[in-house]
Amino acid sequence: MNRRDFLARSAACSAAFLSSRLPARAQDDETRALEVNPITIPLPIRRKLTALQISDTHISLTDERDSQRQREMAHQRAERFGGRSAEKFLAALIYAREKGELFLPVGDLIDSCTAKNLDLLRACFADSDCFACVGNHEFYQWVGDGAKEDEAYKHLSFDRVRAAYPDDLSFCSREVAGINFVAFDDVFYYVADDLIDRFKAEAAKGLPIVALCHCPLYTPELFQETVARQGVAYIVGASDEEIAHYPQDMFEEQRTNETTRAFLEYLRGEKALRAILCGHLHRTWQGAFSETATMYISGAGFKRQANEIRFVPEA
Ligand SMILES: [Fe+2]
Ligand SMILES: [Fe+2]
Repeated sequence: MNRRDFLARSAACSAAFLSSRLPARAQDDETRALEVNPITIPLPIRRKLTALQISDTHISLTDERDSQRQREMAHQRAERFGGRSAEKFLAALIYAREKGELFLPVGDLIDSCTAKNLDLLRACFADSDCFACVGNHEFYQWVGDGAKEDEAYKHLSFDRVRAAYPDDLSFCSREVAGINFVAFDDVFYYVADDLIDRFKAEAAKGLPIVALCHCPLYTPELFQETVARQGVAYIVGASDEEIAHYPQDMFEEQRTNETTRAFLEYLRGEKALRAILCGHLHRTWQGAFSETATMYISGAGFKRQANEIRFVPEA
């Protein structure tokens, strides 16, 4: 599909899902405004691959299918994130498309699971070369609903969110250009009981693994730096002692269970793991996760930030 056709098709999608039509010029403006953070990751592969990692656009679209509460909250949240989140997301998608890049969204694309938000995601995913993991906000009925964030809460929206996504939300993998991309769910600061076994099966394939998960995984540097900035780290795997100063509700929400602790311990020693791509913190960051793997956090999609990654053959 050429650029004109894609823009026309994107505009048609937009017309169906956005309250106002997005002219191609508006999309062009947004595309030019994309703030791209360039990253190079050498891997034992034969040909290079470029990809666009994006997260946290926090799109807040609603229509008559959504409840009054959802519509009110979405309106407030759209203002908080500066508006035009759907346009920013579409612009990133178009940017990746035009450059022939694999699109790697790592969650919080939408702010809550409204019908109109999910329609937009479904249309975009169906029309792009993409591999994705889910974020915590994809499962929110509305922000501030006060619900305990657990499997029962996730279950309320799981099937509808799954229907919008291209692959399984709990765990999935896909080989592209000799890289094994593996996505898993850690959105509520814990992982599934079977994740170690499933990850080991991926490692046995013998390819370098690039993992996608929404919430960053613990490293001492990231934890200390983020706590110094904002008091709470919002990452997976800190010890109870380290987070003892958190407000009680955040301590309970973010404390690490045994399954998750064991998974992280395994992951730190897994030599096949070369990179972890995540979001959630709304700021760009990168640093060592293990001897073999670096973690890359994409910034705020609602500020038009994205990581542009070149996977290149190792010298
Ligand atoms: Fe977010
Ligand atoms: Fe998040």
